[in-house]
Amino acid sequence: MTNDEARRGHGELDPATLCVHGGWRPDEAQRAAVLPLVRSSTFQLFDDAYAAMVEGRADEAWIYSRLRNPTLDAVQEKLAALEGAERALLFASGMAAIHAATLACVGAGDRIVAPRSVYGSTWDLFKNLLGPLGVRTDFVDQEDEAALLRALDAGPVRLVWAESLSNPTMAVADLPRLAAHAHARGARLVVDATFVSPLLQRPLALGADLVVHSATKYLAGHSDLVGGVVCGGADLVKQCFRKLQLAGGCMDPQGAWLLDRGVKTLHLRMARHCEGSLRLARRMQAHPDVLRVLHPGLESHPRRELAARLLPRGSGGMWSMVLAGGDARALRFVRALRLALEASSLGGVETLVSLPFNTSHARLDERERVAAGIAPGFVRVSTGIEEHEDLARDFEAALSASRGA
Ligand SMILES: Cc1ncc(COP(=O)(O)O)c(C=O)c1O
Repeated sequence: MTNDEARRGHGELDPATLCVHGGWRPDEAQRAAVLPLVRSSTFQLFDDAYAAMVEGRADEAWIYSRLRNPTLDAVQEKLAALEGAERALLFASGMAAIHAATLACVGAGDRIVAPRSVYGSTWDLFKNLLGPLGVRTDFVDQEDEAALLRALDAGPVRLVWAESLSNPTMAVADLPRLAAHAHARGARLVVDATFVSPLLQRPLALGADLVVHSATKYLAGHSDLVGGVVCGGADLVKQCFRKLQLAGGCMDPQGAWLLDRGVKTLHLRMARHCEGSLRLARRMQAHPDVLRVLHPGLESHPRRELAARLLPRGSGGMWSMVLAGGDARALRFVRALRLALEASSLGGVETLVSLPFNTSHARLDERERVAAGIAPGFVRVSTGIEEHEDLARDFEAALSASRGA
């Protein structure tokens, strides 16, 4: 099978096969079984490269690695195939990808409608970086249909932003509904699908115009690199390329190579994250010291039916719980864990826990946190791929150790 034949066949291959074989096939010249790492920052110029530069097609030739690199090409091809996208573009971080995707859709004078619970740095970008440049963002509870419609119809809107699952309250975005609302108003829908990965949801097939990921999380999967990706139609991704070209947030080839290695096991890891998180969440739901568990796979989740429809293979490793005893108890709990690590970030093979009150939502006071759905005692969990029973015992022992002052 040649590279081109393999590429043409991608549309018919199962995601598990794409994780392993997508993007790179050994070629006649190199015969390497594994994607070669091309560290070269620059490339010998031929006539095609000169023509590409002159004609504004700098992304179409190997000229300079800020613009294009063979190792990144292969990983982009794999990720595009997994997302069912025409094109994917890698970035130095999830935030670089979010920055480019946003600026591909809006300019001065435009308006964004984004979820109130949006990831903190995205909120900061929209409000404090783009706001002063003339891009207005209205943050709204996207689950509240009346509030959403009010925000959408408050004036012309260019971009509707969504996250597949919200952090840390695990709200499920109704992507087909958001896409219909956005497109009816001439706006684009961009979805941050970091929490679910393309193995569990393909937002483009649900109506999104672009999908972005922090590749730092599930895609890479081992908490050992920072990266981002944008996937979508060729024209819109080309707009993102212009931002990458000029803002310079390109991924390093070494990072792309590591990302490719991570993605090779994405299907195995996601299945394990889904199973492990559900088992641990159920076990905690039955514990007398746990007041509430938020997991889209549990019958108790308020949007269980929507989750089953939009995430039929599971919702990944992320879930949250509220402990009796408030934030002080939650802090004692995370410090008493022996296996799970108290750390921000998510999506790695190791279980991580974090407390919104001293991390993502530290800027809010307790009353504001409660209004955002974060009760005292709230703990966010990113379930890794360890043995379930070992994790459950670690959590139960930490719950016992953290009782009382
Ligand atoms: C949902 C979500 N989007 C985007 C990002 C930003 O990604 P990065 O840290 O790779 O820039 C994060 C990081 O935690 C995230 O959780």
